[in-house]
Amino acid sequence: MKTIAISLQKGGTGKTSLAVTLAAELSTYGDTVLIDADPQGNASAWIGTQALKAELAGVLLKKYALDNAVIKTQTQGLSLLPSAGLDGQLKVFVEQMASAEPFCMQDIISELAGFNYKYAVIDLSPSFGTFEREALTASDEVITPIMPDPFCVDGIEIFSANIIDARQKMHTDKPLYSKIVINALDNRIKQHSQIVSDMKDKAKGLKLYLIPVDQVFRRSQTTHQTIQSTGNAKAETLETIKILARDLTEAFK
Ligand SMILES: Nc1ncnc2c1ncn2[C@@H]1O[C@H](COP(=O)(O)OP(=O)(O)OP(=O)(O)O)[C@@H](O)[C@H]1O
Ligand SMILES: [Mg+2]
Repeated sequence: MKTIAISLQKGGTGKTSLAVTLAAELSTYGDTVLIDADPQGNASAWIGTQALKAELAGVLLKKYALDNAVIKTQTQGLSLLPSAGLDGQLKVFVEQMASAEPFCMQDIISELAGFNYKYAVIDLSPSFGTFEREALTASDEVITPIMPDPFCVDGIEIFSANIIDARQKMHTDKPLYSKIVINALDNRIKQHSQIVSDMKDKAKGLKLYLIPVDQVFRRSQTTHQTIQSTGNAKAETLETIKILARDLTEAFK
């Protein structure tokens, strides 16, 4: 199983949008599980179809077996290990227990691999604390979505330093960090093309993937669909997601 984390220590950059959309795309290559590791539970509210019997936090707290918490979604081949948002326990686990359980996410990922998933995608919260470090170093690869604002280059530098620090602390060379998504680009805004070219100069060794402003993300969240199943996504959005999924699966062969 290949595990891909979606992470950045900044809110509202499209992490959940990318996690859900990429997981749906990867499910066309092989069985995929989306792990909602954000206490906000946004990915679960988006594609979770049933009332939750159990959530990720319940598994981390050893209250439930993993196979009781994983649910199927309406997308063929895509399962979800959910978090219950405001009513859930993940926030408590993250704040109070994660530091005593450094391999908690690694254990969950190993167990999911035993269920024969080919890909796992982890949606993380907009922070970089102990729990995020544990989830990231248990992942094979991390992708950061950024919005094209003047501070995004700084955001990437901070994230890169955090990843180096996390690898050292956890005595691992994981996760690979080689892909950035620049999200919600508007080619009518001059500053956006400037930011893309600055990124190209500064983010040497990192591949950039560009996603345009696309209302399909907001709309599909409201209707609890993946953007692929709406039939209303922009061609450019779908194309970038396809290339990203292809690059991830080819590197895994
Ligand atoms: N390409 C896009 N075009 C237009 N709107 C977008 C795009 N990508 C995401 N959005 C919208 O931006 C908002 C934030 O997206 P999302 O929830 O995915 O971000 P996030 O990084 O997961 O946020 P958080 O840090 O709170 O977890 C959502 O309303 C989403 O619909
Ligand atoms: Mg999110």
